Amino acid sequence: MLLDIKGLHAYYDKSHILHGVNFALPEADIIALLGRNGSGRSTTLKAMMGIVPPAEGSVKLQGEELAGKGSHQIALRGLGYVPEERLVFPNLSVDENLQMGVQRGVDGAPRWSLEDMFGYFPRLKERRNQRAGYMSGGEQQMLTICRSLLGNPLVLLVDEPTEGLAPMIVDVVTDVIRDIHAKGVGVMLVEQKMSMAMRVASRVLVMGHGDIVFDGSVEEMQTRDDIRREWLEVA
Ligand SMILES: Nc1ncnc2c1ncn2[C@@H]1O[C@H](COP(=O)(O)OP(=O)(O)OP(=O)(O)O)[C@@H](O)[C@H]1O
Ligand SMILES: [Mg+2]
Repeated sequence: MLLDIKGLHAYYDKSHILHGVNFALPEADIIALLGRNGSGRSTTLKAMMGIVPPAEGSVKLQGEELAGKGSHQIALRGLGYVPEERLVFPNLSVDENLQMGVQRGVDGAPRWSLEDMFGYFPRLKERRNQRAGYMSGGEQQMLTICRSLLGNPLVLLVDEPTEGLAPMIVDVVTDVIRDIHAKGVGVMLVEQKMSMAMRVASRVLVMGHGDIVFDGSVEEMQTRDDIRREWLEVA
């Protein structure tokens, strides 16, 4: 079992946001986490990363308990995270930002090099000496994805990677996500664009109000108009 989440609860102060989230990723597949705004998708990723420490529940990566550990430890254990808000070091160059991410894999094997990243996004190579803070939002998003990959995750959690990106770049990010999967890394993708998520993912989770209300294949999801109406479309 690659990743196993059981009974995850999380709060912001007294607001109870996650109400016992359960799902598993037996193998390194691409899984999409869908849901309306405010349903708790980002909080699920943050609870897994220890950014919002879970009040209850278990997050196991290859059998090892991560709940209760700090975010840095969790990243070292092999959970990569690309947050919704692009997190670059604005005063460091693109190159320096990438170097900050470089880490040996949990199994000792680096899966990606800097050159691989420039192959994915040539724009980053053109601007490698530029301060990250001067890059556009989309470029900062690419940089954040690459920095996470250079950390050699076993599973990458990506929060709305295509938000605000031009359609052509959305296609590039889609290809990169497929390639991450092809290298044997699991991907958990939070997306607003259902069509994009359904194109790359093999499995879909739908979040209701802080819990999972659907867990099934993309094919099954396509037949579930009821789930779409109740939990995804804006009323
Ligand atoms: N830092 C915070 N402090 C207090 N409440 C928060 C905080 N972050 C999120 N919330 C609340 O927690 C709930 C879930 O938010 P979350 O960010 O997980 O939603 P989401 O599904 O990612 O939606 P979206 O990204 O579209 O906003 C929302 O009601 C939100 O208002
Ligand atoms: Mg969110």
